[in-house]
Amino acid sequence: MQTKPTIVILTGAGISAESGLKTFRDSDGLWENYRIEDVATPQGWQKNKEAVIRFYNERRAQAATANPNDGHKILVELEEKYEVFIVTQNVDDLHERAGSSNILHLHGMLREVRSSVNPDLVYDVGEKPIRLGDKCELGSQLRPNVVWFGEQVPNIVDAMALASKADIFIVIGTSMAVYPAASLIYHVPKGSKKYLIDPNIPDFVGREEVSCIPKKASEGVRELVDYLMKGS
Ligand code: OAD
Repeated sequence: MQTKPTIVILTGAGISAESGLKTFRDSDGLWENYRIEDVATPQGWQKNKEAVIRFYNERRAQAATANPNDGHKILVELEEKYEVFIVTQNVDDLHERAGSSNILHLHGMLREVRSSVNPDLVYDVGEKPIRLGDKCELGSQLRPNVVWFGEQVPNIVDAMALASKADIFIVIGTSMAVYPAASLIYHVPKGSKKYLIDPNIPDFVGREEVSCIPKKASEGVRELVDYLMKGS
């Protein structure tokens, strides 16, 4: 039996932009309106749990009303011809709802909350808000199951293993500003083809041999998937 070539796709907030979800670092992005230290660090959580809970409740409610766009949906077509693994920095579930089979979340998921004393106690709350006073079965406050700055990224080990077996590596809609996610491209074998889809090509590109498609996700993914599905 012939094995299918492996495609690993690293996605960021840009792939969900056309679904109406704000990116972080574009103008009017989330980090223009909130301070990272306040809502995305363990220190922010210690200082004001209510503000952190409110921030993620809002994100969760917004993500629940958003729908996958063509960028998410068209990626599913690749599975006919390739072994496809999506590694996403996004905390929404739009790749899942578009129908992709293999998705690894590096920075957690909005629809999950977890114990603040035991990271393995994870609960799916769907689109529901959580409140100060909501506790895990051990009696500690529930917190978003999102990886904050300064915290470990447990799934990076699996993501590196995936990147190291990519025949084709595709980056979509990420500024490549956050590590260790941005380092995954350095684990891709030499000689594997690399593509990047983003209307604003990030700076890192000069350092790597990458074919750039300077378009929005919906258009760029259509173009690249058509090309990859035609290839022998
Ligand atoms: P950023 O906001 O840093 O980057 C978004 C990227 O998407 C930029 O390069 C934009 O040019 C691009 N973009 C905007 N609209 C697009 C569209 N329609 N189609 C394709 N690309 C588009 O978001 P991320 O790189 O995902 O982490 O941010 C990485 C991490 O930083 C996030 O996971 C989050 C954040 O802080 C945590 O909260 C831990």
